[in-house]
Amino acid sequence: MAAPQNVYDDRDFFAGYEQLRRTGTGLNDVLEQPALWSMLPASLKGLRVLDLGCGFGDFARRAMYAGARNVVGVDISERMLADARAQTCDAHITYRRMAIEELALEPNAFDLVVSSLALHYVADYAGALARVAAVLTAGGRFVFSVEHPMCTALPQQAWVRDADGRPLHWPVDDYRTEGPRRTRWFIDDVVKYHRTVETYVNGLLASGFSLRSLREPEPVAGETPVQIPGLDLARRRPPFLLIAADRLGVPGAI
Ligand SMILES: C[S@@+](CC[C@H](N)C(=O)[O-])C[C@H]1O[C@@H](n2cnc3c(N)ncnc32)[C@H](O)[C@@H]1O
Repeated sequence: MAAPQNVYDDRDFFAGYEQLRRTGTGLNDVLEQPALWSMLPASLKGLRVLDLGCGFGDFARRAMYAGARNVVGVDISERMLADARAQTCDAHITYRRMAIEELALEPNAFDLVVSSLALHYVADYAGALARVAAVLTAGGRFVFSVEHPMCTALPQQAWVRDADGRPLHWPVDDYRTEGPRRTRWFIDDVVKYHRTVETYVNGLLASGFSLRSLREPEPVAGETPVQIPGLDLARRRPPFLLIAADRLGVPGAI
């Protein structure tokens, strides 16, 4: 299996990504995060939370504000974690530098595991699910988002446009060929792993989870927090896939 990739520690990539996220008006903010929060338990009060690929720690801080008992944020990137630590002054949030592929935490230690837009960087999805299942208490919830397989199928990840630059259609091909795609995002050769919706769902069912909900968020008038240029394109092809699943088993049993 390929070694974990750490593209967020590349200086140029980090600079581009940081700038994108600082605006607070990316698709993450207006589509993905509202959908993800709609799939969490009704209350986070008292929950022990793990965030895989925590990035700048935005989710960790918001989860504490929503009543979580504590949050552990895990990320492979030292640059992302340095930023997260600088923005966080809460003793109940801890950040650990660790790859999802090498996740080693106490068994049954979390009531909620979240992963926002990180699992499409991980080659071994089944392995990641096994590690999540090991640290999640029975009955606990796992909620994750990934770039939608319609977007990861082709490496170029771009609309086909007319001579005036207007988007004609989003090309999808090689859908059933799962595996790495080398794409350009701020820098060349960013590797994302394409897998089908079937694999995302059936992987969970085969790993001891029951499916709760699946979302492909779209902009909805009156609900989507801010309108940003190009947001309407998210109705023509979904940018994100989100899944919430519960770990089967009797709570408290080992
Ligand atoms: C698109 S960012 C999302 C950050 C954060 N979850 C958010 O939504 O704001 C993806 C994050 O996943 C991290 N990441 C990517 N591959 C990883 C891996 N194999 N193990 C741990 N973290 C990883 C990156 O370093 C980055 O911080």
